[in-house]
Amino acid sequence: MDLRRPRRSHAGRSRPGPLEPEPDGAVVPGPGGRLRERSLDDGGDDHRADGARRRHPAAGRHHRAAGEDRRRPARREQPDDPGAGGLRAVSRTVLVTGAAGRLGRSVVTMLRSAGSAVVAVDRAPGVVDGVQVRAADLADPHAADTVVAGCDEVIHLAAIPGPHAAPAATVFANNTAVTFRVLHAAAARGIRTAVVASSVSAYGLTFGPASFSPRYVPIDEDHPLTPYDPYGLSKQVDEHTAAMIARSTGLTVVAPRFGWIATRDMVAERVRQVAADPGAGKSVRELWGYVELGDAARACVAALDVRDGHHSVNVLAPDSLSTTPTAQLVARFHPSTRIRAGLTGTASAWSGDRAARLLGLGSMWSWRDADALEGTVSTADREVPAGGESHEAKGES
Ligand SMILES: NC(=O)c1ccc[n+]([C@@H]2O[C@H](COP(=O)([O-])OP(=O)(O)OC[C@H]3O[C@@H](n4cnc5c(N)ncnc54)[C@H](O)[C@@H]3O)[C@@H](O)[C@H]2O)c1
Repeated sequence: MDLRRPRRSHAGRSRPGPLEPEPDGAVVPGPGGRLRERSLDDGGDDHRADGARRRHPAAGRHHRAAGEDRRRPARREQPDDPGAGGLRAVSRTVLVTGAAGRLGRSVVTMLRSAGSAVVAVDRAPGVVDGVQVRAADLADPHAADTVVAGCDEVIHLAAIPGPHAAPAATVFANNTAVTFRVLHAAAARGIRTAVVASSVSAYGLTFGPASFSPRYVPIDEDHPLTPYDPYGLSKQVDEHTAAMIARSTGLTVVAPRFGWIATRDMVAERVRQVAADPGAGKSVRELWGYVELGDAARACVAALDVRDGHHSVNVLAPDSLSTTPTAQLVARFHPSTRIRAGLTGTASAWSGDRAARLLGLGSMWSWRDADALEGTVSTADREVPAGGESHEAKGES
């Protein structure tokens, strides 16, 4: 996978890319340090009012609390060795659950490239990038504690990723039980940071009724979560589980709310569909949002650097899948939705402000930079810019 393709930021133009048994032990309260980012409990933060393609001033800021928790093992960082994807090489052991899945495989590869040791776990056994995947059903009361032992950090991706892949009660019970067990075991073991894959489905759009529209766009993390299906509900509950465990134990938990996670080929195919009919398929329900697989993996790894609290954060590409201005699409397909200032050009209908500040993701891959669509969407169409002028003209980076 080429992770060094040109990338775009939620605020900037393209540029070369650098790229869960219940533990017996008592859970020890954590240090309760200052939150760097508002969390579920404190109502989040303000909506950005400037253009979605300008580089956010907070992008790339380092998020680490001043005090280091002495209960937890020090991580051995090598800042001069950036590792794959522009991530700092860090010697640590990371538990990746759902490691045999689409996102899990990509995360394992990225961590390995950055020099981290990986404990890969999934119900489905296998080998990912030379790492043996340990077969375990994390809904089993003892499995989570066993696999967490010896790890410094956790990236928890194991889930049934939709409402229709299993009976409704199974989707809900599996996802929520596994998340609780993994986070509870992680906190009991003194792990510093856990990442839990959430989803924009928790807002209610993806699997809600056709009549459902968001209150406003761009949707930021303050937008109400009103899921209509067991999967979206499981993600909402996962986030509350994360908040409770962070509050009561000091485990830092970051919950990226991913949009549709797709390979570049998958994105190319969806762009063609949207070009033919922007109202067809799932795109209209997902507000034409997407996130490239490598960027989703990068967000997971970057989230391991967050210190203190619990954080829900949208993670999507900074642009839409369409060449039609996003405000026009929203006005046509979601007429009751309020369009806030700042939704310009083909910028994403999903706010990436918090991701920029919290994760420092900076530029992300956009299909507009890709070769995959040669001959399908004209170059001129790809370059419909946010705000009506070219990024180059603005001198953005
Ligand atoms: N794919 C998307 O578009 C998307 C969007 C938003 C969020 N997410 C979330 O991202 C995460 C990864 O998604 P993905 O696309 O890689 O899904 P995937 O189905 O490819 O991978 C999920 C993996 O979790 C494993 N798993 C499920 N229940 C388990 C259990 N009880 N014990 C052990 N392993 C278990 C499955 O075997 C599977 O390999 C999921 O949490 C999903 O809900 C995905």
